Amino acid sequence: MKTRILTGITTTGTPHLGNYAGAIRPAVVASRAASADSFYFLADYHALIKCDDPLRIQRSRLEIAATWLACGLDAERVTFYRQSDVPEIPELTWLLTCVTAKGLLNRAHAYKASVDKNVENGEDPDAGVTMGLYSYPVLMAADILMFNAHKVPVGRDQIQHVEMARDIAQRFNHLFGQGRELFTLPEAVIEESVATLPGLDGRKMSKSYDNTIPLFGSAKELKAAVARIVTDSKLPGEPKDPDSSHLFTLYQAFATPAQLAAFRAELCDGLAWGEAKQRLFELLDNELSEPRELYRQLIAKPAELEEILQAGAAKARRIATPFLGELREAVGLRNFSSQAQSAAPAKKKAGKVARFASFREADGAFRFRFFAADGEELLLSRPLSNPKAIGQLTQRLIAGGPDALELREDEGSQFTLWLDDECIADSPSYDTAEAMDAAMLRVRAALATLAE
Ligand code: TRP
Repeated sequence: MKTRILTGITTTGTPHLGNYAGAIRPAVVASRAASADSFYFLADYHALIKCDDPLRIQRSRLEIAATWLACGLDAERVTFYRQSDVPEIPELTWLLTCVTAKGLLNRAHAYKASVDKNVENGEDPDAGVTMGLYSYPVLMAADILMFNAHKVPVGRDQIQHVEMARDIAQRFNHLFGQGRELFTLPEAVIEESVATLPGLDGRKMSKSYDNTIPLFGSAKELKAAVARIVTDSKLPGEPKDPDSSHLFTLYQAFATPAQLAAFRAELCDGLAWGEAKQRLFELLDNELSEPRELYRQLIAKPAELEEILQAGAAKARRIATPFLGELREAVGLRNFSSQAQSAAPAKKKAGKVARFASFREADGAFRFRFFAADGEELLLSRPLSNPKAIGQLTQRLIAGGPDALELREDEGSQFTLWLDDECIADSPSYDTAEAMDAAMLRVRAALATLAE
């Protein structure tokens, strides 16, 4: 079976060399593996959370789309689309929102960081926090679960979000799956071997440090950026230490082993920093000049890019539309006419049938018993606070049917019935394990007659 790999690229900013080495290049390589069924998308709804400048949003989507294609992503082979072109994603977001515990989102790192900062500054804890920021992990869960991704390559800061998607998926499966896994449980993948590039000043290359090397600037701009890389003040002819030079680290991310060994030897031999920069520039330019040209052409023809992305969205929706239909069914958003029969269930045949019977105990607690058609008592519930709770529980058991029924063997000769991770009823005790197993089968059989 193919592994479905999915990842989103938030469309803020213009990609730089660090994004290329850390995310784009490895993803494009991974997408070519025969076993991969890859989904890459522009997370432009996520971008709206961080940015309220329409021009920047629009510009960044265009640039990022062109960058990925120019770097060799094959839109025929993979599914490449904009999140905002797949309306099923926000629709699924709502279904997931309704089963997501608020407490789960309270624990999200990004939200907590904002709150901590506000508290530190003596502000209201939620100052400046939008519902977009707060619900960010639910939208991301919808991105992932919509396509039942197995693997989600992300940076370390996103691991928690993928785990939340798992949690939400489990809860949804449990509530609406009737024993079936509606959603695949996704797994975060952290690529350890991928280069984290240093920026001009040696700190991690990042827009927030203003130390980036543009990916698809002109050759002249590339050269100018490389010239600004900070080095020590050793003079030409003085030996340089490659391992304490981030210029060398940058070189390493693009060189073959032979090129790297030669460069190392030259530095130790006293190569001037100016010369070293020229070598790095040539190495980068050699790898980037072809995609840079492609990028130019793509950016110059936005209508063609639009067409590629529309085709990608259509491909994504061929999966999303029918799947969302199933999910709507599962939660009860169903077509009235196809449901007419189930709204008016056929009368049960006369005669004895399995049944739930509720009663009130002397201490005021309510319980129910479950009887087989022949009157055998199969289960006795734990105490409940009111008869309405009993009605809801038994309705859910009946609706879930025998396959969803969670019976656990206790030690010895009894079993228990569980719902939502809570033990709700006990069986009588039986003399042997076989007698107990047989009774468990009778419980399922009895429930099946009610579900018909
Ligand atoms: N939040 C991710 C980031 O900032 C981007 C993203 C959005 C994403 N949806 C996703 C990544 C789904 C993986 C899967 O990097």
